Amino acid sequence: RPRIAILISGRGSNMQAFIEACAAGHLAADITLVLSNNPDAAGLQRAAEAGIATAVINHRDYASREEFDAALVRQLEEAATDLVILAGFMRILTSVFISAFQGRLLNIHPSLLPKYPGLNTHQRAIDAGDSEAGVTVHFVTEELDGGPPIIQARVPVEAGDTADSLAQRVILLEHKIYPLAANWFIQGRLTLTEEGAYLDGENIPETGIP
Ligand code: GAR
Repeated sequence: RPRIAILISGRGSNMQAFIEACAAGHLAADITLVLSNNPDAAGLQRAAEAGIATAVINHRDYASREEFDAALVRQLEEAATDLVILAGFMRILTSVFISAFQGRLLNIHPSLLPKYPGLNTHQRAIDAGDSEAGVTVHFVTEELDGGPPIIQARVPVEAGDTADSLAQRVILLEHKIYPLAANWFIQGRLTLTEEGAYLDGENIPETGIP
């Protein structure tokens, strides 16, 4: 079975969604490693409880982003990783990491990319008066939050929404679309080409698949 590694920095609710998708037979792969840059990430405990191997590579122990990234690559290669899932992994990766895994490296970002790359996405959507917000799963390339989208999910922004209330609505969709996109990859239906993301030979538009 294909081997998935999940990189986290915090709570790990998307990671948990992957664990549940595997357990339910919706994802024909094994999660062989959960790796965190943050030794205090709550998700590490949740992974261990599910019987999954965990590791910490603390970015504070490395003099440069490149050295940190090289350590991540070594650990993931030792685990014979086929697909790398960034799930709330809050470190910017360099080409050292991205070139090692490009084409089998996915991220989830809590905005309707190309809107709001970076941080505080939900607050920025509210401040801009947007009528909808959402989340994007995308292939990771060297452009920060700029790789080809695979799937997006949308929610309305409601009167009185705060960043937290919006995040709570969006995260439920994150847990659905991220394992779904990973499953397309596992099934061999999803590929990254020079022109963008393809699903079963169909070019995925910039807006993602609704
Ligand atoms: C998720 O909302 C994810 O989309 C976001 O962090 C949260 C992690 O939650 N990712 C980013 O902001 C990436 N820049 P989780 O740890 O419960 O999965």
